[in-house]
Amino acid sequence: MVIRREDYRPPAWLVPEVRLDFDLDAAATRVRARLSVTRNGADGEPLRLDGAGQVPLSVTVDGVAIDDWRLEGEQLVVPLAGAAHVVETEVEIAPDHNTQLMGLYASGGILCTQCEAEGFRRITYFPDRPDVLSRYTVRMTADAARYPVLLANGDPGATGTLDDGRPGIRHWAEWHDPFPKPSYLFALVAGDLAVNRGSFTTRSGRAVELGIWVREADLARTDHALDALKTSMAWDERVYGREYDLDVFNIVAVDDFNFGAMENKGLNIFNSRYILADPDTATDYDYDGIAAVVAHEYFHNWSGNRITCRDWFQLSLKEGFTVYRDQGFSADQGSAAVKRIEDVRTLRAAQFPEDAGPLAHPVRPDAYQEISNFYTATIYNKGAELIRMMATMLGPVAFRAGTDLYFDRFDGTAATCEDFVACLEEASGVDLTQFRRWYGQAGTPRVSASLSHGAGGGRATLRLAQRVPATPGQPDKQPMVLPLRLRLFGAETGRPLTDEQLVLLDQPAATIVFEAVTERPVLSINRGFSAPVIVESDRSAADLAFLSAHDDDPFARYEAMQQLMLDTLVAGAIEGSADYDAVIDAVANTLDDPDLDAAFVAEAVMLPSEAFVGDQLAVVDPDAIFRAREALRGDLARRLEARWRLAYDRAPAVPYVYSPDQKGRRRLRNVALGYLAASGAGDAAALAFAQFGAADNMTDRQAALTTLVNGDAPERDVALAAFHDRYAGNGLVLDKWFQAQALSARDDTTDRVAALATHPAFTLANPNRARSLIGAFGANQRAFHRADGAGYRFLADQLIALDRLNPQTAAKLLPPLGRWRRFDAGRAALMRAELARIVAVPGLSRDLFEQASKSLEG
Ligand code: TRP
Ligand code: ZN
Repeated sequence: MVIRREDYRPPAWLVPEVRLDFDLDAAATRVRARLSVTRNGADGEPLRLDGAGQVPLSVTVDGVAIDDWRLEGEQLVVPLAGAAHVVETEVEIAPDHNTQLMGLYASGGILCTQCEAEGFRRITYFPDRPDVLSRYTVRMTADAARYPVLLANGDPGATGTLDDGRPGIRHWAEWHDPFPKPSYLFALVAGDLAVNRGSFTTRSGRAVELGIWVREADLARTDHALDALKTSMAWDERVYGREYDLDVFNIVAVDDFNFGAMENKGLNIFNSRYILADPDTATDYDYDGIAAVVAHEYFHNWSGNRITCRDWFQLSLKEGFTVYRDQGFSADQGSAAVKRIEDVRTLRAAQFPEDAGPLAHPVRPDAYQEISNFYTATIYNKGAELIRMMATMLGPVAFRAGTDLYFDRFDGTAATCEDFVACLEEASGVDLTQFRRWYGQAGTPRVSASLSHGAGGGRATLRLAQRVPATPGQPDKQPMVLPLRLRLFGAETGRPLTDEQLVLLDQPAATIVFEAVTERPVLSINRGFSAPVIVESDRSAADLAFLSAHDDDPFARYEAMQQLMLDTLVAGAIEGSADYDAVIDAVANTLDDPDLDAAFVAEAVMLPSEAFVGDQLAVVDPDAIFRAREALRGDLARRLEARWRLAYDRAPAVPYVYSPDQKGRRRLRNVALGYLAASGAGDAAALAFAQFGAADNMTDRQAALTTLVNGDAPERDVALAAFHDRYAGNGLVLDKWFQAQALSARDDTTDRVAALATHPAFTLANPNRARSLIGAFGANQRAFHRADGAGYRFLADQLIALDRLNPQTAAKLLPPLGRWRRFDAGRAALMRAELARIVAVPGLSRDLFEQASKSLEG
């Protein structure tokens, strides 16, 4: 069934108050729900309550059992005569058997919930839609020994023990959340948990008790998350004027979780990979991710919870804005330029291919079959770029006035993307009429830029044009508003010839004239990645090398280097060889520049990924791309070997400290290690192995392992075995072990990955494990696209098996198979055959069916 945005109707009934009573047990949990309902629609409309997987054991209206209720599909329909009633239902559910990890489920002995988007209906009958806001009171009763800690949303209330004749001591706890919220923000947790406590005093003086709840054994790895939480709370006050609003804020970490984390009001639930860290088990990258996700979920308290979404088509209202907010937070914790480089790399790796493929959809979609499939890079990351563009166009003061107006006007309501844009417009006076097309049109715009200079005449002319490609269901596009930050530099003097200007390209084409340009100008465009577009320019290798050394915008320097590398790799892949000199000189200059910090240098000297090179080609040839990239990499490595050794020695002091400076130096050191291995230097494997053994932190240990895993030195198997044995029992670290092997550049990777799928530590039941092997393998361009189709067959087999356990996670791993249009006829046929095999599986989930069938149509 297809759900359409245009079909939105306000709810016929509201539920201002809910009382939930849980008799918790892993095998059989009883849920009694007492809903105070008020009529919001026409007389005669019955109450419709969503359900999934359960049956009503009893239904009462105003205290009287009724029998004129009926089931329509999985909806419970209750005829009601008046304008306000109290409706009570009772159901029984089995958390132990819940492998989908939606609703109430068990994770390693902890009972927890995940309700976004439509999980609450798996717990009890309810109008499970985000525009029905209720005040919740929750009572949980459970075995006191097994589940000593009982948590829910809001503030804690009464507790007690009871003797009901059953074996063991049972206890109960009540929680009350004073803020009306949609059902997707409901949460409870019951388990044997230890807590890392902290406190935060808001700027108006409210004392908030903070708690990070984990298994006792993990307690020592929660300090970084707690620090990040406090920093986030202060940041949101300072930057957006947003204060926390309850007396407690709890976070619980569980090992089995479909996504990163969930922003349930006052009770965030996290995938443990975004909470647990210490230097021995987590990389710098993991530390960054933890701070970003803790901030993201915390920021949702305003952008998502206080103001929620009217319907799921508005998902980017909360997700795009909240990603934009967490990106700003992370940028403020270290190098803003490096953070921007990382965010753009993520966008290009995840969102651009989505926007160019069969699953392309607008930031505000028009239709879906399964909403879980729309938690995408487009909604999240492109959505954040839309907010960023509006912030650029408004400037910081007007943008803040706009967000203040939005928070003020829509507090306590379920809003739309349009409401947000209208507030920015009203507060700033900037007309965003045409900008709104960004919400409705899918596809990555392409901008062509051509600069000419009349020799001697002193006038430069920049010709810009835009084109938005066709996407499924959207053959014709209107021109967008593209905010392009640009500047000209003098090719001879290296000096800027103009100030930076913000050009709003809102026509199919435009010409910009610069007067008094006294030397040949070089164009720096889309600085800071001011618009999420693909720029096609006619800049020469020499001009790109020049910008990589002289541009005053660090992002633009990085970008010029990337473009230079990309042009070289594309030429290499198509022609079998290319001229590497410009790249090698530019990399040498960057490594030699004493003014650049290590973190930036590390980003700038890394080659674009194979996948990104593939995105530039009419037909992707994974083998040719691999060969071209290895050739350039080898040449860079050998010709600059002395410099890589110097960079390698810029190692940070021990012991490990997670700081921007140390992090940057570790990064550069490990990039240098990769190049030394690529150079074929006789001591490279020994160097990596020594680092592997001596490292006092996971960043260096994992980097050394990855370097060895890509090669065939005998140290490889020794390191893999040592790593495995050292961390046996730590699933989060074993994920790194699986992932390193799934991403390996070796020829035998496909077979090795198939063997790893039967390793005792591997299980499809845990989403992190599934992603670390199956997800990483799908991203391995050469291994996955092996010409005989073995990679495709393996992925399809795994997805079919995973779909029976966890449809949401299976559907998330499908997209690599859907890119068949981008490959040669042989590979395309093999990929399509696997998609067809998936679609034909009896009893396939709606999640996987939607993704596979759309991918097949292309
Ligand atoms: N709202 C969550 C976030 O972005 C995402 C999320 C967590 C989610 N769990 C989910 C989305 C399950 C869909 C299904 O912060
Ligand atoms: Zn979110």
